[in-house]
Amino acid sequence: MTQITLRRPDDWHLHLRDGAMLRAVTPETARHFGRAIIMPNLMPPVVTGAQAADYRERIRAGIPEGSDFTPLMTLYLTEETDPADVAKAKAQGIITAVKLYPAGATTNSASGVRDFDKVRPVLETMAEHGIPLCVHGEVVDGDVDIFDREAVFIDRVLDPIRRATPGLRVVMEHITTKDGVDYARAGGDTLGATITTHHLVINRNHILVGGIKPHYYCLPVAKRETHRQTLLEAATSGDKSFFLGTDSAPHTDPNKESACGCAGCFTATNTMSVLAEVFEQQGALDRLEAFTSLNGPAFYGLAPNEARITLEKGDAVRYPEKIETGDGPVTVFDPGFPLHWRVV
Ligand code: DOR
Ligand code: ZN
Repeated sequence: MTQITLRRPDDWHLHLRDGAMLRAVTPETARHFGRAIIMPNLMPPVVTGAQAADYRERIRAGIPEGSDFTPLMTLYLTEETDPADVAKAKAQGIITAVKLYPAGATTNSASGVRDFDKVRPVLETMAEHGIPLCVHGEVVDGDVDIFDREAVFIDRVLDPIRRATPGLRVVMEHITTKDGVDYARAGGDTLGATITTHHLVINRNHILVGGIKPHYYCLPVAKRETHRQTLLEAATSGDKSFFLGTDSAPHTDPNKESACGCAGCFTATNTMSVLAEVFEQQGALDRLEAFTSLNGPAFYGLAPNEARITLEKGDAVRYPEKIETGDGPVTVFDPGFPLHWRVV
């Protein structure tokens, strides 16, 4: 096969940031994607419906002329979130989902949730109104090893929340383990899981062998190879529980290449080429569309995009190593193998 046409893909987990960074990275996603779920972990975070509406305007201003890219907004859940504001923001068509960060789990998560009982009323309201909860699924307890944080989160936090709030629609974001895959598979219609591009490509050796590679450091951190293999099987299976959420997370090079570097891989620019390569290697090109363009909208109760994109296989495609932003250069994810599929 040398050509494949898909419904225009969507990105169900994306960081666009704000200001100069927003203006530089938004076109990278808008080029290939129809919609994206926009993460609210700005500084300060996007907590209210009014803030989400303002942020959406700033994003819209950064979308290139002629693009029909649609940002789908989220609210950052805090212990002070007002259930009525969440319901109103949904009713007004401002938000699509709410994001749960355990406090301290990742970039700009300090305002996240410490005591999960405090957000019960918001979760009840969300279940009632069919508003999905997007979950960063890692515990932050100092005694839990960073490689175990996802598995422990499922047992200690996620499963109890889902049992206590039947009907709550939950997206396990950027799953990285067999534990995550197994739990998502068994979760029925109210549970979905996103998988990033980079977690399909790298394992923990990529970060640590032969010198530390800050551009492969993200959260949840990449796990051992057996977990990556399980993620590959899940993503290429066609199972509607699994869909693309790139977690493309731009940080400038100085912030990545540092004694205390930021977490995040920037994959917006080359994601479709990388995924086509990966799915082809798995003999699953015919299931790429389910992962990038069908399963996500189905979970969110939206129609798939009407527009199509075509990928063509040919000589190796070259992407820029970095994109320039007003805040400094951002390194584009290097999958470590040549890419032959280009979006035409
Ligand atoms: O690698 C990550 N980067 N993981 C996250 O959860 C947050 C993100 C960011 O905002 O940079
Ligand atoms: Zn993220």
